[in-house]
Amino acid sequence: MAAPKVAVVGAGVIGLSTALCIVETCPSCSVTVLSDQFSPNTTSDVAAGMLIPHTYPGTPIHVQKQWFKETFAYLFAISNSAEASEAGIHLVSGLKATGVQMYTRKVADLWDLHSEYNVVVNCAGIGAHQLVGDEKLFPVRGQVLKVHAPWVKNFIRDGDGLTYIYPGIHRVTLGGTREKESWSLSPDPGTTKDIFDRCCSLEPSLRGAQDIKEKVGLRPSRQCVRLQREVLSQGGVKLLVVHNYGHGAGGFSVHRGTAKEAARLVGECIAALQGSSSRAKL
Ligand SMILES: Cc1cc2nc3c(=O)[nH]c(=O)nc-3n(C[C@H](O)[C@H](O)[C@H](O)COP(=O)(O)OP(=O)(O)OC[C@H]3O[C@@H](n4cnc5c(N)ncnc54)[C@H](O)[C@@H]3O)c2cc1C
Ligand SMILES: *[C@@H]1O[C@H](CO)[C@@H](O)[C@H](O)[C@H]1NC(C)=O
Repeated sequence: MAAPKVAVVGAGVIGLSTALCIVETCPSCSVTVLSDQFSPNTTSDVAAGMLIPHTYPGTPIHVQKQWFKETFAYLFAISNSAEASEAGIHLVSGLKATGVQMYTRKVADLWDLHSEYNVVVNCAGIGAHQLVGDEKLFPVRGQVLKVHAPWVKNFIRDGDGLTYIYPGIHRVTLGGTREKESWSLSPDPGTTKDIFDRCCSLEPSLRGAQDIKEKVGLRPSRQCVRLQREVLSQGGVKLLVVHNYGHGAGGFSVHRGTAKEAARLVGECIAALQGSSSRAKL
């Protein structure tokens, strides 16, 4: 068959890292990223980007450890040239260099892609709730403030991790909230004040912070990350799908490990397609 065409839906940390892993493992594939939003407008842009192991109760612990280890090793290796908080930006430039196409497009139904692509990878984050009707996926809303306070050099996190101060290279992230089942993307002014007060009591110098911006993200939460193949079919026509979403509060921490697994599943899909196309020729 001709170069297999792969579409990755979603341009958050999961979609971009998955697209990169597919290019690395399948150089003959033509890879396209389709997304309704790009950086700086994704949930991944709201995150502080800390590597902290989160637990997915529905995923075996040894698998989660492997994802985390692979991600840590990967970021550690590039940390000489790039800060982890800039990984999104580096991912985008890395993808452009490898010839991945990127288009702004809201996908209403994965099936809509069947005539254009051989394999579709679903990295839609919380968008998968609507895109594939996954009722097990729910938002855990997080509101944070991104402020200019370059004198803050160390991170501070209170006991349960609800109040935190994470300095990045450009901005300091002040958090936060965890609101289950809340879909609101607009910042709440009362919450902003509360976050600011909580953080100032940990680090009083933040009272002098400048250029305070409010950000909201919906963590795509689920018992377990959905990382599996699915075959969609209509009227005898098939579309091979790989799902990679539901990373909840830990998408950064495991992105490389789950991207590698998703790329492996894409490889299986392509092998199946090549098997069936060579059988068709016989
Ligand atoms: C306040 C906050 C702090 C966080 N801090 C951390 C942290 O320190 N460490 C950590 O590991 N994790 C953290 N997280 C979690 C992390 O942000 C997420 O796990 C991660 O961003 C999920 O990435 P994603 O690519 O799946 O989703 P997203 O970044 O939401 O990307 C989904 C993409 O899919 C696109 N899309 C959706 N539906 C469609 C559709 N129908 N058609 C086309 N495109 C579509 C969207 O436009 C978007 O580009 C935090 C989250 C929040 C909210
Ligand atoms: C992000 O969203 C803003 C506001 O809707 C928009 O003006 C901007 O073009 C978007 N950026 C990207 C890269 O899509």
